[in-house]
Amino acid sequence: MSAASQLLKQHLQQRQMLGKTHVSLRPGTMDRLTGVVREPAARAAPAPEPSRSFAAAPAPAPAARILIETPPPETKKTQLLEVAGETLEEKLAALRAMAETWEPALSMSSLRKTMVFAVGSPLASLMFVGEAPGAEEEKLGEPFVGPAGQKLTAIIKAMGLERRRVYISNICKFRPAMDNQGSGNRKPTAEEMRACVPFVLTEIDLIKPLVIVALGATAAEGLGIPGTVGGLRGKFHSTGGIPTMVTYHPSYLLREEQTGDGIRAKRAVWEDMLKVMEKLGLPISEKQRGYFQAK
Ligand code: URA
Repeated sequence: MSAASQLLKQHLQQRQMLGKTHVSLRPGTMDRLTGVVREPAARAAPAPEPSRSFAAAPAPAPAARILIETPPPETKKTQLLEVAGETLEEKLAALRAMAETWEPALSMSSLRKTMVFAVGSPLASLMFVGEAPGAEEEKLGEPFVGPAGQKLTAIIKAMGLERRRVYISNICKFRPAMDNQGSGNRKPTAEEMRACVPFVLTEIDLIKPLVIVALGATAAEGLGIPGTVGGLRGKFHSTGGIPTMVTYHPSYLLREEQTGDGIRAKRAVWEDMLKVMEKLGLPISEKQRGYFQAK
């Protein structure tokens, strides 16, 4: 890809991250652009995926769609699940249906039986990965909707993004069981993660985010990045070739706010998110740069 089309691709991805679905072009520009970045016909054939696409306004013809490609991730193919379907949405729906009846997880008495899949846009450039659903998530069937979820949503907003435009998933699709469970939650064990991890890897393979954020050491471990958050955070790792930032889990932020140095923890997460924004080419204001500075 030429430098010009790289720049164009980055610009369109930034616009998409900011919620724009259309770009206006001057007459004649479309012809030049389609000559630069239009997909080969074979890829456009029978059912073009809607991901990372921008329709020029006014849309002259189907061939005028600008499809933005990202390199395929290098996730070990053996860990990926085969899903039926033509479009991205169909494939994700098939994957979700497969998770509902996934014997390796459902046969484990240590996991509860309600499957909580993922939420957000299949077109997302940014994907967050947590560890496992908790009580609130199990009740509502959506990841990150409890107190930690509200914290995550606030982080996404602070980045200038919307929750519905990123993709949020978990390593483990079932809530880990406990004696006298009540509203108690626990981390999934290595075995529980192993039973579920093909799902999140297949989601990554289908969605092809440009950047992944692993929330906490358990999520990082599930993605094959072992270590402590303290040791891993602040730099990019790789999930099958996709830049992956490891940062503190939002629950840790909540705990630190109560009992520790809340500002220090928030600043660390925010520094990681600034790096993610830079990697995605998102605009960063002076105000955003200054969030959570120690006084
Ligand atoms: N914590 C997680 O890791 N995932 C959720 O979905 C909720 C809380």
